[in-house]
Amino acid sequence: MDKLLISGGVALVGEIPVSGAKNAALPLLCAALLTREPVTFTHVPHLNDIGTMLKLLAQMGVKVTREAEKLGAGDTVTLDASALDNPVAPYELVKTMRAAILVLGPLVARVGETKVSLPGGCAIGARPVDQHIKGLTAMGAEVAVEHGYVHARASRLKGARLFTDMVTVTGTENLMMAACLADGETVIENAAREPEVVDLATCLNAMGARISGAGSDVIRIQGVEFLHGATHRVMPDRIETGTYLCAVAATGGEVRLTGTSSAYLDAVIDKLMDAGCAIVGERDAIRLKAPPRLTAVSLRTAPYPAFPTDMQAQFMAINAVAEGTAVVRETIFENRFMHAVELIRLGADIKIDGNTAFVSGVARLEGATVMATDLRASASLVIAGLVAQGETVIERIYHLDRGYEGLDQKLAALGARVQRVK
Ligand code: EPZ
Repeated sequence: MDKLLISGGVALVGEIPVSGAKNAALPLLCAALLTREPVTFTHVPHLNDIGTMLKLLAQMGVKVTREAEKLGAGDTVTLDASALDNPVAPYELVKTMRAAILVLGPLVARVGETKVSLPGGCAIGARPVDQHIKGLTAMGAEVAVEHGYVHARASRLKGARLFTDMVTVTGTENLMMAACLADGETVIENAAREPEVVDLATCLNAMGARISGAGSDVIRIQGVEFLHGATHRVMPDRIETGTYLCAVAATGGEVRLTGTSSAYLDAVIDKLMDAGCAIVGERDAIRLKAPPRLTAVSLRTAPYPAFPTDMQAQFMAINAVAEGTAVVRETIFENRFMHAVELIRLGADIKIDGNTAFVSGVARLEGATVMATDLRASASLVIAGLVAQGETVIERIYHLDRGYEGLDQKLAALGARVQRVK
């Protein structure tokens, strides 16, 4: 398994491009299942999770073409789902990537019958899909969960008024996709407002869907008979953007991130400014200049537009070396503090009490060998390694490769002493 060797203590300075958003691309690829015509996506990030999704779609019978563009411009992917001769999602593929559940809604709507493996939990929590099932059932699907698989059947889904018990991003996306081909109007209340939901709705409307309200907590979908092909550019990755802003802020550096913007990152930018950073948003870029030492910032994760749970681990890393004490509250997932014990190995002073972490900034961290456990926890260890004195070895970095395109190249371009070893 690959490892990442980081020699910390260097202020990161320079300019790098941001890739397309993983959490927009994954549902977008599944949207292609809703039509017999080819759909083309540009600016698709070259990530392991994308590769897994394309493998899953291909084994269903989708014709997949993927051309790599020049580095930083992402891949161009064309999907042709005209012949779906095996509309199932097997455990072997789903267990490696929970987002595979996003084929459920499209397959029930397009094919009328499907078998999708339950994703199972992951490091950060149980992550059930009961709301996905509840919504499809309300739309008339017969859904049974047997032997670890979701069996869903519907001659044609019927529009319905849906209410999710909690805000769920992929739940909203699955139900929105299914509703596109339903008979009548569907209203999703308590819908997720994440920008990736809006990006998906934009693509679906370009394919002939009739969706309004995406980005608010009430989404209306007028079902249509069929969708047609389209071309869609994946939006920039706001979490990748936030991650690099944190890495540069922690090291006291200065950066310009291109192919992105400050839009969709207000909560994160507010916290970075409270921590002492100067941030300037441009039309297609964002610039940050860090102070010599950050001030600790407390935060509480919540659904968009509040502070994103996917940025919590990165902020725990910057609080570990900031001036003062921060209170970090995680309200979305039940077990998303695993990075804390690894940060403590690097010398951080963190106390966990349930879903609250008390982080007292220390003058410096000491390099050590640490282990990545999930995607964003791995990112927080990279940030800590960049500021720690001496060498930090991060094991199991396949977690990073799932969600960060060319992470070591991008960090090296900012002057980081980072090396990937087999
Ligand atoms: C999406 O996961 C993202 N993944 C996650 O990013 C992100 O952390 C999460 O949204 C929250 O923003 C993708 O978009 C592919 P949820 P998702 O359904 O949709 C509970 C990353 O690092 N819940 O919004 O799976 C659930 O357990 C990943 O890129 C139910 O109980 O998250 C959680 O506590 C990690 N029943 C909360 O709701 C359900 O049916 C929010 O989950 C659905 C969700």
